[in-house]
Amino acid sequence: MDMKETWKAVDAFIDEELHISDEVMESILEKNEEAGLPPIEVAATHGKMLYLLAKMSGASSILEIGTHGGYSTIWLARSLPKDGLMATLEVSDKHASIAEENIRNAGFEDQVTVIRGQALDSLPKLMEKGYPRFDFIFIDANKDGYPEYLEEALEVSTTGTVIVADNVVRQGKVIDPETEENNIPHIRKFIEMLSENDEIETTIIQTVGRKGYDGFLLGRVK
Ligand code: DHB
Ligand code: MG
Repeated sequence: MDMKETWKAVDAFIDEELHISDEVMESILEKNEEAGLPPIEVAATHGKMLYLLAKMSGASSILEIGTHGGYSTIWLARSLPKDGLMATLEVSDKHASIAEENIRNAGFEDQVTVIRGQALDSLPKLMEKGYPRFDFIFIDANKDGYPEYLEEALEVSTTGTVIVADNVVRQGKVIDPETEENNIPHIRKFIEMLSENDEIETTIIQTVGRKGYDGFLLGRVK
C-alpha cells in the first residue's frame, strides 16, 4: 500500500474500532454531498478531536468561523453543557441553510446559531449582540482571511480561551516562503502573528488521514 492508502485505511480502522462516527454524522456528510458542497469537512477522527478538546477545556461558549455544512459545528456542539451556546459564521447563504437543517436534525437548534455574512463583519458585533467571550474558537474558513480572523478571535477571547485552526500545514507547503499555492502566504502570516504574540501559547500538530496531509494550530490564550 502506498502511504496515502495506509493513512486512509488507518483512519477507517480508528473510525471503526473507536466507534467515532454515527448515523447523525454520516447523514450530515450525505446531505452535504447531495447538496453539492465540496467534501472539505474535517475527518471524523478530527471532528471527534475537536469535540474532545472542547469538552476537556470545559467550554460553554464556542465560536466557529466557517460553518460549511455544519459537520464540525455539530461535533463541537455535542461537547457543550445543556446551558452552553455556540455561534458559527458562514458567508454562503446556501451553506448556511444546509447547516441550519443539519443542526436542526441533530437537535442543536436551541444552542447553535448560524450567523450569515462575511465573518469580518460579524465578528466585531458578537459582543454587542450579547455573546460572552468565547471559551473555544475554531477557525476553518477562507484561508486568506486567517490573519484577520486571528485578530478578531483574540478580541473575543479571555484567559483560557482555546483557539484551534484547520489547514495550517497543507501537504507541507507551509514551509515554502515562495509558493502562492493554497493561500500559503496568508497561513504563514497567521503563524508569524502567533510567533510574535506573547498572549497566546501555541503549537501545530501535523496530521495525516483520509483527508491527506495537513495540520491543526492549537492555542491557549494566557
Ligand atoms: C480544503 C480543506 C479544508 O479543510 C478547508 O477548510 C478548505 C479547503 C481543501 O482541501 O481544499
Ligand atoms: Mg478545513
